Amino acid sequence: MSLTRFGISHFRNINQADIEPSSNLNLIIGNNASGKTSVLEAIYFLGRASSFRTRHFERVIQKGQQSLSVYASKKSKNGQIVSFGLQKDTKKVQIRINEQKINKVSELVVNMPLQVIHPNSHQLLEEGPRHRRRFLDWGVFHVEQSFYPAWQRYQRALKQRNSCLRNHSGKQLVQSWDKELIESGNILNLSRQKYVDELQANLYDYTRPVLGDMEISLRYKNGWNKDLSFSDALKRAINDDQDRGFTTVGPQRADIAILADGVLANERISRGQQKILVTGLLLSQAGLYNKKTENRCILLIDDVAAELDPANREKLLNVLNRMKVQMFLTSIEKQTLAPLLEKTTPRKMFHVEHGNLTEVV
Ligand SMILES: Nc1ncnc2c1ncn2[C@@H]1O[C@H](COP(=O)(O)OP(=O)(O)O)[C@@H](O)[C@H]1O
Ligand SMILES: [Mg+2]
Repeated sequence: MSLTRFGISHFRNINQADIEPSSNLNLIIGNNASGKTSVLEAIYFLGRASSFRTRHFERVIQKGQQSLSVYASKKSKNGQIVSFGLQKDTKKVQIRINEQKINKVSELVVNMPLQVIHPNSHQLLEEGPRHRRRFLDWGVFHVEQSFYPAWQRYQRALKQRNSCLRNHSGKQLVQSWDKELIESGNILNLSRQKYVDELQANLYDYTRPVLGDMEISLRYKNGWNKDLSFSDALKRAINDDQDRGFTTVGPQRADIAILADGVLANERISRGQQKILVTGLLLSQAGLYNKKTENRCILLIDDVAAELDPANREKLLNVLNRMKVQMFLTSIEKQTLAPLLEKTTPRKMFHVEHGNLTEVV
């Protein structure tokens, strides 16, 4: 899919904007603080009803305004045009697809698959498992239909079980949730495991051109002792769970170890290499999505050239050039992206200055 039109009203420093993006490369050029990241953030906001920069959604509403709106039209793979609109004030979000009100953000997410790469993306390697679980679940959610219903079931059962543990409700009541937890948890676990295997098989296409022969491997950790079934792990952990007041084992503790030459990548490779590796991981995830769904996800890439030397930048841009998806890339100036500009068509360039977004013709 690709966006054929995209509009913004009162989002961060962008008062009004309305563009017709290219189906392939879109370059957004502007000085510091002109509003480049805000444009990407607005596209992301339309696809996820959340931001990659803040958890405080109200901060994205333009200063002095009560609400924001973002809207787009997309051309789906069968050529159909679908319209999206999202309106937000300080209290609520309203989502429309083809003018119909939508209550679930998941419907938006399914319809607008987005992947974002930004200067802090290497958090994926450095920070806690929550980031990696989110990364993993984005992929599984989009390629495995049974995942989301199981995930919802699991979250509900886990919440109830934890509430029993917190309130010292007794073993029997706590364990009355185990059947539901085990059934849904096993579905989550299997689909995550399968996905990590597929991602691993796909990864070298994206990492080898930029990292050479460095061996990159993903080791899935399911969230309990892997020699046990989930059911046995839960049984064994019950005393511990009661002492600590929450469920200590299960898919909510899952993680992926990202290894470079057999060692945790963040302990092994330089910051520049980490950025390249994470970009490779995210692109490989986007590539796998395209392959599995015959659909195409949109890539939002913020300041990819930052901190990369010209040789590494060129390698990375070459990988991007092969993606053949709709991309929105920001940069302070276009020279750093020249290798991509020379090769990728169709393309459009936009300039942003003090929150004004205009096409450069
Ligand atoms: N809610 C808001 N209302 C108005 N302006 C904002 C808001 N949030 C951030 N800004 C301003 O928007 C400007 C653009 O930020 P940003 O998109 O990060 O710029 P760039 O990526 O081009 O460096 C900054 O000057 C920032 O202070
Ligand atoms: Mg920026």
